[in-house]
Parts: sequence; C-alpha cells; structure tokens
Amino acid sequence: MADFYTDTVLEHFRNPRNAGELEGPDAVGDVGNPVCGDLMRISLKINDETEIIEDIRFKTFGCGAAIATSSIITEMVKGKSILEALKIGNKDVIEQLGGLPAVKIHCSVLAEEGIVAALKDYFDKHPEKTPPPELEEKAKLLEAVEVHEH
Ligand code: FES
Repeated sequence: MADFYTDTVLEHFRNPRNAGELEGPDAVGDVGNPVCGDLMRISLKINDETEIIEDIRFKTFGCGAAIATSSIITEMVKGKSILEALKIGNKDVIEQLGGLPAVKIHCSVLAEEGIVAALKDYFDKHPEKTPPPELEEKAKLLEAVEVHEH
C-alpha cells in the first residue's frame, strides 16, 4: 500500500477522464460516504441489446483520491459488458493507480459502489431483464463494507 499519492493518482486528479454527466443517461448511481461526506454520481449509456456500457461519466464532490478513483474506474468500465464491469473491484482500481494510502482505500470503495448503484438503477428501469446474481452479491458485500467502516 502506498503511503503517498502515486503519479497516476495525481495525473487522474489533475486531468480527470469522463468527468461530468451524460445527457439522457440509461442509468444513474448516486452514492456517498457518510463518514467523510463525499458524494459521487455515475451515469451510464448501456446498449440494451449487447449490454455493453457504451459511455460513462462521473461527478464527484470529494477528495482527490475520490476524483482519481472515479476517473480511472470510468476508463476501466467503458466498453465493457455489464458482467465484465461487475468483476472490477476496488482492489483493481487501486492496482491501476499504483496504490493508494491506507486512509484513502474507502475512496476506491466509493467508486466501485457508484458503478454498482448505476447498474442496479439500470435493472430497476428494465424489469423485463433479470439482473445477474453477481450484482446482488456485490451490492450486499459493499453494504457490509460501509457498515463496517462506521
Ligand atoms: S475522503 Fe471520502 S471519498 Fe475520499
């Protein structure tokens, strides 16, 4: 675990990718961490036929690590299928960033939660589709993490 911000973290913080909000998104996920008060909104464009995430934006009101983790997770998720996106966890985000200080790990969890919340919203809006079991499992797991942090 890094005890400082890596160059990749700083680079994503200074030049965030896919920042903002999509117009007419297919799904939106709003998450927040009650401890630090940081907020994140993920919006997605999803192809209903292929279930590929064709576009993504993030809006983060939060610390530098929250901005860097949300920026990099948008790059990791864009172009992936819903199932592939669900395989991306906060540990993958940390790895891509070259590490995060221990006190900033929860920021990467917030980014993962944002994707899960947006995907849940997608299936809520499409009751005719069956959500993959991985989605429920992940949502439960992330809730447990949040409770643990309080
Ligand atoms: S300090 Fe809370 S998300 Fe970074």
